[in-house]
Amino acid sequence: MWEYTDKVNDHFRNPRNVGAVENPDGDGLAGSLACGDALRLTFKLGDDKRIAEAKFQTFGCASAIASSSALTIMLMGKTIEEAERITNKQIIEFLGDLPKQKVHCSVMGREALEAAIYNYRTGKTLDRQLDGEVICHCFGITDKALEGFVRDQKLTTAEGVTNACKAGGGCGQCIPEIEEIINRVMGEEKAKTDTKPKLTQLQKIKLIEETIDREIRPILRRDGGDLELHDVNGDQVYVKFVGACVSCPVSSVTLKDVVETQLREAVSDDIVVEAV
Ligand code: FES
Repeated sequence: MWEYTDKVNDHFRNPRNVGAVENPDGDGLAGSLACGDALRLTFKLGDDKRIAEAKFQTFGCASAIASSSALTIMLMGKTIEEAERITNKQIIEFLGDLPKQKVHCSVMGREALEAAIYNYRTGKTLDRQLDGEVICHCFGITDKALEGFVRDQKLTTAEGVTNACKAGGGCGQCIPEIEEIINRVMGEEKAKTDTKPKLTQLQKIKLIEETIDREIRPILRRDGGDLELHDVNGDQVYVKFVGACVSCPVSSVTLKDVVETQLREAVSDDIVVEAV
């Protein structure tokens, strides 16, 4: 029996926005019935080009239903550009938590959103299976998709990959190839790190300030937020959120997924960011 948060239970028992939007602007499908989970997400924009209606139809477990319900609420009132920045981690954060074996349900929500936005922009249906070579035949997951999961979610084990997207969780024959992909991606990421120059503390602070100005601040300002650099102690960076970020319910996710990730990419993999 899985341990669910109260919020997951609530969204499973009383799912919001079930069904399909009439004449949707975006219509996306993720998962497949053959794999035991499928999600269709539809949305419609209002005159102000913000999402005015979002609905889902899902075939899956309690976590899939709760993740889909949460996603529709998170989408309301967002522009397309804001919506496409929603990550599966933010869906988990919204729900309080998900058992690690159920993380793939939040990933399915993120994928349905990508498919619906693709449909809105192109009028076409996103077909992930055409992109790359199928590695996990039980769940129809390609090498490119696996590489994306490993890179984006910094996965280091085959078990982590199975939790994120189910690959490897059927017959298990693809696990050696999944491990090869993990090793290759980890090697590439390490090579990137090794090429970063050693910085003095003064150079580090300057680069942190530049990265905040160039990469981070524009993202936060689009949602009415911002941050100030408070202090730097070694690799520990202290920031203070201001504006809309102060009351944002997912600011802790923004701190890690946006601020820390950007600073690690630009400055050092050892950077740890904390809010004051
Ligand atoms: S081929 Fe991946 S679990 Fe069977």
